[in-house]
Amino acid sequence: MARFEMTDIICECEKVTLGEIIYAIKEKNCKNLESIINLTGAGKYCGFCSKKEKDFNIPKKKIYLDNIITKLQTQRIRND
Ligand code: FES
Repeated sequence: MARFEMTDIICECEKVTLGEIIYAIKEKNCKNLESIINLTGAGKYCGFCSKKEKDFNIPKKKIYLDNIITKLQTQRIRND
């Protein structure tokens, strides 16, 4: 299982970190890809970081924005 640091860059184009994405979801209530793009700029340009389908369907990253959203929403549901 891959381990991640909050400083790991998720979006290379905008240099957005995992910590910034998590903050956007947890503290700014971003619930989907569009709201994360609007708030952080991650996924705004090439889009390769947003989901593996946008990365020519050949995963090159350990995690994509849609994976992070799903993971955090699943945790949130379990905590409710
Ligand atoms: S890597 Fe995120 S928009 Fe290009």
